[in-house]
Amino acid sequence: MAVTSFREGTAILLFLGVSKPLTIAIDGWSSCGKSTLARQLAQKLGYLYVDSGAMYRAITLYLMRKGVELSDLEAVERCLPRIQLDFTYNPDRGASDMILNGENVESQIRDLEVAARVSVVAAIPKVREIAVARQQALGKAGGVVMDGRDIGSVVFPEAELKIFMTASPEVRAQRRLKELLVKHPHVTLEEVRENLAQRDHIDSTRAVSPLIQCPDARVLDNSNLSMEEQLELASSWIRAICY
Ligand code: DC
Repeated sequence: MAVTSFREGTAILLFLGVSKPLTIAIDGWSSCGKSTLARQLAQKLGYLYVDSGAMYRAITLYLMRKGVELSDLEAVERCLPRIQLDFTYNPDRGASDMILNGENVESQIRDLEVAARVSVVAAIPKVREIAVARQQALGKAGGVVMDGRDIGSVVFPEAELKIFMTASPEVRAQRRLKELLVKHPHVTLEEVRENLAQRDHIDSTRAVSPLIQCPDARVLDNSNLSMEEQLELASSWIRAICY
């Protein structure tokens, strides 16, 4: 179905007063291609795309730069009021860049050093409280595609469409390695596997809003799907909701 069909569909429903723009929650394991799908869907629907993981990464970067010991929860909490997070649309990427206290940190938050620490920071309750409040404010009008770990379970439990993304650990490690090699030519597959396994473990076992598969989420295993195929599958779920 063409792009305009989605938009027309949503517009007609809005006109009839039966629906507001959809909220689409995409959760799943690290390096499953959640952000790729979320960005494509947002573009297709003319919706806002929010990469919630970028917020946890930016908070991690701030704490690293300040030399804060991540196990010192009081020190972490003292820093939080000084962290201002914003997004700015980058037309070259077709997505928003993360702005930390006025500085564009989109590139830095993808570094290995941040990736190695972000799960620990994302497990801190006060950090989650602040990030979740911001995410809910960004998506309160609907018309949003947000990806993360707790979007369907905590941030938008009423989301019209919840997708739980997964792929085999080997496929995920290979994809992540390919991304990382651009900036880190010496990184090995073994390092990437370890980082993914460690993040998965922390993300799914932490006390506050761990990664779970919501009972009402549709599972998208893209181990053997192309980007086009996964977009088509998700699009068919949206069509089923809209019509
Ligand atoms: O999606 P990502 O890899 O950029 O996420 C970075 C980290 O933040 C990852 O360890 C999981 C965590 N995260 C989270 O706990 N909740 C979210 N909604 C998004 C990300």
